[in-house]
Amino acid sequence: MGNDFLRWIMTFCMVYSVSGEGCSLILKPSRVVVGFGEPVSVSCEAARPVRVLGWESAISAAHTQQDLSVQWKVDSLIDWIEEPICYGVFFTAPRQCEEKLNLVLYKTPDSVSIRPVNHTGPMVEGKEYQLLCEVQNIAPVQYLTLRWYRGQTEVYNHSFSDLTSSSPVQVSSILVVTPTRAENGAQYRCVAELELGPEGPQPPPTVTSEPLNASVYFPPAFLSPEPEVLDLTEGAEIFLNCTATGNPAPVYSWQSSHPMQERMEDEAVLTSSSLLPGTYTCTASNTLEKKSKQFTVKGKAKGV
Ligand SMILES: *[C@@H]1O[C@H](CO)[C@@H](O)[C@H](O)[C@H]1NC(C)=O
Ligand SMILES: *[C@@H]1O[C@H](CO)[C@@H](O)[C@H](O)[C@H]1NC(C)=O
Ligand SMILES: *[C@@H]1O[C@H](CO)[C@@H](O)[C@H](O)[C@H]1NC(C)=O
Ligand SMILES: *[C@@H]1O[C@H](CO)[C@@H](O)[C@H](O)[C@H]1NC(C)=O
Repeated sequence: MGNDFLRWIMTFCMVYSVSGEGCSLILKPSRVVVGFGEPVSVSCEAARPVRVLGWESAISAAHTQQDLSVQWKVDSLIDWIEEPICYGVFFTAPRQCEEKLNLVLYKTPDSVSIRPVNHTGPMVEGKEYQLLCEVQNIAPVQYLTLRWYRGQTEVYNHSFSDLTSSSPVQVSSILVVTPTRAENGAQYRCVAELELGPEGPQPPPTVTSEPLNASVYFPPAFLSPEPEVLDLTEGAEIFLNCTATGNPAPVYSWQSSHPMQERMEDEAVLTSSSLLPGTYTCTASNTLEKKSKQFTVKGKAKGV
């Protein structure tokens, strides 16, 4: 008889039950946030005499015909179940009611990874690239925010609040970047953050990707590209300084208008000790571009 009676009650509950206001059932706590594999227990209390009080759930269903309180308790929650419902059948009106437990079972991602889309090797200044952040096995995705960082600066965030899935999913986010030379060597990171509300862990759990080191190629640039005029004087040394920034590091070559000038070193800076008066052109080049700068050396060279 007992089972038939319960089944009848359950059916009756689903058809005629009330919930929320007017329902004499109180869930303690009313919202639970549980990490995958963690224990959970919630008690359902009846505020007035009850014929049957129970939990309807795929796991750990329970009921009582004596007490004013019944527990839903799981030692290690690993099932992506529907939210359990507490039901009560009373002696007086309203005869039935139910309360759905606000249950959030969460799982931090197995992995968060970051990589360029359709590209390998260094980026080139001023060109557009896409970086992809992939998150494996996260739940529930609607509480997830993916934060993109360049160094310590958050450059973009992507929230998934428009999705609904209680079981683990895979999601991704794309960051479009147009790198500048200042970003050479910068590290990009993607951080998956689960903001589960006040009942959830504080601070919110996060998983951070390995950093992606940005190598940004840019053409050679002189600090002062204007031609320079230098005077050779006896005893004083002057420098023809062709130093340029660039990535990859520029290589240098020199040409002189003076027919007697001996071959010059492939270095950024020439010193006057080996120079004759004349015009010198320095070229700083890398894989992207060649840039030239002129120096005019006036006066007498030593020993001439
Ligand atoms: C990446 O390359 C593949 C094949 O070359 C192409 O189908 C795809 O659209 C590209 N994706 C992006 C984001 O550019
Ligand atoms: C996401 O970024 C926007 C600006 O891009 C910012 O206003 C907002 O506060 C960020 N959201 C979160 C949840 O951090
Ligand atoms: C990225 O840069 C950091 C610091 O500049 C360095 O320690 C690390 O080895 C680099 N990683 C890769 C993959 O080049
Ligand atoms: C050449 O110029 C660079 C900056 O453009 C400077 O750092 C370097 O010290 C200079 N070298 C000499 C020998 O003056």
